[in-house]
Amino acid sequence: MEKLFIKDLELKGKRVFVRVDYNVPLDEQGNITDDTRIRAALPTINYLLDEGAKVILASHLGRPNGKVKPELSLKPVAKRLHRLLNKEVKLANDCIGPGVRQQVDDMQPEDVLLLENLRFHPGEQENDPAFAKELASLCDVLVQDAFGNCHRAHASMVGVNGTVSQAAAGFLIKKELDYFEKSVNNPLRPVVALVGGAKVSDKIKIIENLVKKVDKLIIGGTMAFPFLTVHGYGVGKSTIDETVLVKILMINKLAKERGVKVYLPVDFVIAEKFEAGAETKVVTFQEIPDSWFALDIGPASTKLFFEAMQNAKTIIWNGPMGAFEIDAFSRGTYAMVESVVTTHAATIVGGGDTDLAFHRMGESYKVSFISTGGGAFLELLEGKELPGIAALTDKP
Ligand code: 3PG
Repeated sequence: MEKLFIKDLELKGKRVFVRVDYNVPLDEQGNITDDTRIRAALPTINYLLDEGAKVILASHLGRPNGKVKPELSLKPVAKRLHRLLNKEVKLANDCIGPGVRQQVDDMQPEDVLLLENLRFHPGEQENDPAFAKELASLCDVLVQDAFGNCHRAHASMVGVNGTVSQAAAGFLIKKELDYFEKSVNNPLRPVVALVGGAKVSDKIKIIENLVKKVDKLIIGGTMAFPFLTVHGYGVGKSTIDETVLVKILMINKLAKERGVKVYLPVDFVIAEKFEAGAETKVVTFQEIPDSWFALDIGPASTKLFFEAMQNAKTIIWNGPMGAFEIDAFSRGTYAMVESVVTTHAATIVGGGDTDLAFHRMGESYKVSFISTGGGAFLELLEGKELPGIAALTDKP
């Protein structure tokens, strides 16, 4: 890594501002339903405590859009963190202002203070320099560990770095970038990319980037439809974004030039309506009726994709194979989870719902790496530079 790393910092007795991504899912009662992101940043916090630093944690939660929303307070996070660290975690009632400054001034080495939701202030998302300066004034150095938020050029992600003397990557950022580098930019071959999901406009950018890097490309989810359209097949009631079709022609051309094998579904689970309980059928890709929706890949496709993955040394997976939030259309995605974990490949999974499929199957522990980033992981797959990483201090 060309950027400063936490181990490069002098930390003893220092006030360290740690940007973490505690944007965790909550149920209707405000209970945390998945604390993966809180656990993922523990190595950084423990290291700072071992080094005798004063640890000031900062995060957003949800999208309060610059307003104080009590239901998006970081209170449940402070409670969970207290349990995980087995240590007192104080929660400030704001993230800037005289009260917070006093709390920071009162800190002793190895104390942990969690600031309240950064997005309660509009200055966070607007990257307001005055807000960034206030945050920076709370600390001596900054450690960035909010991988999941690194695609956001917000005050605590980029603005604050201009004012602090040093901004270094934490252990989670390093781990995420190292795995990404190893599996996407410098992989053991053959490398297979499995791309699904519903947001065609985002996924097409990923495929445009991955077709330059992988040996096999397996396309599922809504993304498969424009590929089938280009080959002249009907895709039922799904609407096709025409602008994507030209890009697919380019992707197919590049795949041919590079010898990349492109696999499309050969059958689908179709339904008359896009809803749970609708009548369903399995048909080949040639036989999707115009008035039905294709909502999942079928059993022949899962066999084909399973075969295609068998010689992989690296698998990159983003996006479910169908509308897997509805039981009737979840089998294709779950079958791919089973296929992926039976290979001998190093597997990197990330973005949106893909990790959820592994968690639901109880198979997460069999995957080499599940990214904590949704949008950030997608932007890396698109080949973009993440502002939160770019803003870190360069190594001297
Ligand atoms: C995420 O959960 O992807 C990050 O925390 C960013 O959250 P956002 O999409 O609300 O900006």
